[in-house]
Amino acid sequence: MQELFVEGGNRLCGELTIQGSKNGVLPVLAATIVCAGECRVENCPHLSDVDASIAILRHLGCCTRWEDGALIVNTTHMDRNEVPDALMREMRSSVIFLGAILARQGEAVLSYPGGCELGPRPIDMHLAALRALGAEIEECGGTLRCTAKVMTAAELVLPMPSVGATENAILAACGAEGTTVIYNAAREPEITELQDFLNAMGAEVCGAGGSIVTVTGKRTLHGGAHRVIGDRIVEATYLCAAAECGGEVRLHGVDYRALSTVTAALSEAGCEIQSEEETVTLRSGGRLRAIRPVRTAPYPGFPTDAQPALMAALLRSAGSTVFVENIFENRFRHVDELARMGADVRVAGRVAVVSGVRTLHGARVKCTDLRGGAALVLAGLQAEGETRLTLLEHIDRGYESIERDLSALGARIERRNA
Ligand code: EPZ
Repeated sequence: MQELFVEGGNRLCGELTIQGSKNGVLPVLAATIVCAGECRVENCPHLSDVDASIAILRHLGCCTRWEDGALIVNTTHMDRNEVPDALMREMRSSVIFLGAILARQGEAVLSYPGGCELGPRPIDMHLAALRALGAEIEECGGTLRCTAKVMTAAELVLPMPSVGATENAILAACGAEGTTVIYNAAREPEITELQDFLNAMGAEVCGAGGSIVTVTGKRTLHGGAHRVIGDRIVEATYLCAAAECGGEVRLHGVDYRALSTVTAALSEAGCEIQSEEETVTLRSGGRLRAIRPVRTAPYPGFPTDAQPALMAALLRSAGSTVFVENIFENRFRHVDELARMGADVRVAGRVAVVSGVRTLHGARVKCTDLRGGAALVLAGLQAEGETRLTLLEHIDRGYESIERDLSALGARIERRNA
């Protein structure tokens, strides 16, 4: 078992280029199977969720290899259309493979993706979209048996702008005759990234980044090359770290516009921020002030994935800040662990009130989920004494090496085998 040891008190200074995006690359890897050919995915982050996707691709009969930092995926000899339970359980967002397998093979068998630390994570919108395109889906005993010998374009209306459902609908629509229109589509930058990758393969997807996306299916597709966008949530995490510790950091690799609600919140908290193209510079004196209520929302609203990091940044702020988590049912699981460090966070359902304290103290804490675990690291960076974190597998799903990156900015953090 590995543990992170964090010594608080250092200011953070320096420059860093942010890793490729987890939530950008996962749908791109699923999209590689929409056609038979070889794809080159540049700037692919080394994450356990990427490893889980590679395992699925290989199980399906695809070949993958790393070459000069890029992941090469060859789907020519794909000969399976089912994803076994063990692989589905590795990563619940594997459900994103469903639409792509249907588009390529006309049938797919997946075990029902379970819930996760954040809540039940239903996929009703995914399945409704696929059925509207002509898929017959039988749910029995935890297995989804999907057949779609012929898929026909449809007008899909998502009840809410679900990221995964939008991605699954786009991928399945690539295999449907005609032009599919997806209304109330998610607008996240990762949707635009999926559109760019599919179009590089010869697909015809338009409108991503807006609420209406159209897909003209049954195009002749071919392999393509793509560079994964920078991870906006990883950058948000490190900006929050510098904001709470004090110092000056310049982070490269993410379109600053994808972070605007996070940088606006940090500016309100007292940071000085300059943004240009793919660089954000943050200067902070270290003592932040409370801000107006933070309400998570679908993009371009405040990202739910940055809520734990911003909460951590405000643990020693002057005043109280209200957080309203509107996306997931259970995204305050890290609060109990923060309390062990002396944080004052009161939770009632989807609302958490953070009241700044003078000091936090190091403690032994357990990561509860991916972004909650990162928040515990951020709490340790500003605590007196040493903080030891276990269950690092949560963090390693989305951060290539949180200790490498934060150490590069001057933090005292190291990973040891316990
Ligand atoms: C994606 O999850 C991201 N994961 C999440 O990032 C992110 O928090 C989320 O989008 C919101 O931005 C990946 O991209 C791999 P949703 P996804 O469908 O697609 C409900 C991280 O930390 N819902 O937009 O699962 C659902 O329960 C992860 O990197 C249904 O009810 O998110 C949730 O409450 C965490 N029925 C809400 O919608 C459905 O069919 C938003 O889910 C689908 C979703």
